[in-house]
Amino acid sequence: MPTPMTTTSAMNALKTRLKATWESGDYGVFATYLEKGALEFFDRVNIPSGVRLLDIGCGAGQLTLPAARKGIEVTGLDLAANLVQQARTKAAEQGLPIHVDEGDAEDLPYPDASFDVVMSLIGSMFAPRPELVVDFFIEYYGPTNRAHGSLDDARKGALHDDLTALWTRNNSATDGTTRVLAEYIEVVGTR
Ligand SMILES: C[S@@+](CC[C@H](N)C(=O)[O-])C[C@H]1O[C@@H](n2cnc3c(N)ncnc32)[C@H](O)[C@@H]1O
Repeated sequence: MPTPMTTTSAMNALKTRLKATWESGDYGVFATYLEKGALEFFDRVNIPSGVRLLDIGCGAGQLTLPAARKGIEVTGLDLAANLVQQARTKAAEQGLPIHVDEGDAEDLPYPDASFDVVMSLIGSMFAPRPELVVDFFIEYYGPTNRAHGSLDDARKGALHDDLTALWTRNNSATDGTTRVLAEYIEVVGTR
């Protein structure tokens, strides 16, 4: 009987392949072609200086560096060691105070509510388990955490189900992973 994809060893093997894929080639070079759109996105979300921002799947620092330039207290996190190094090197060259960790979006090394805002530009969508992605936005994104906390249990469940259904509806993979065709997904929350 085949081992389900959700077992730890199968998931670890998948993660190893995903990491190797992102580390092959040089996404930092490719990202330069997307810089204009990335900066337009960053301007639109209008994150004020002084907030604690987590940039998940930060790559070579496409938005991490502009965030630091704006005075935002930014931490980047990425699966790919070479891209983490590129972001650190660029920050050092430009004298920008960013902190960048190598890590997995599904297993963040930070205490709950460590950040005021969590941002991910075409990054967290590549994590294979959407239910964990939903959880980290709830735990780490302060305003969402507070808004989520103000809901009763039924509404919390409904929100969780809506987000998971949205992701699942668009998932064309049948092997327990996620494959979603997308350009940009932009979510703007207001009170
Ligand atoms: C399309 S690139 C975008 C990078 C950056 N946000 C940008 O706009 O240039 C996707 C990034 O997500 C990272 N990534 C993929 N899966 C990840 C995971 N599970 N945890 C953390 N980062 C991940 C990749 O290493 C890659 O740097």
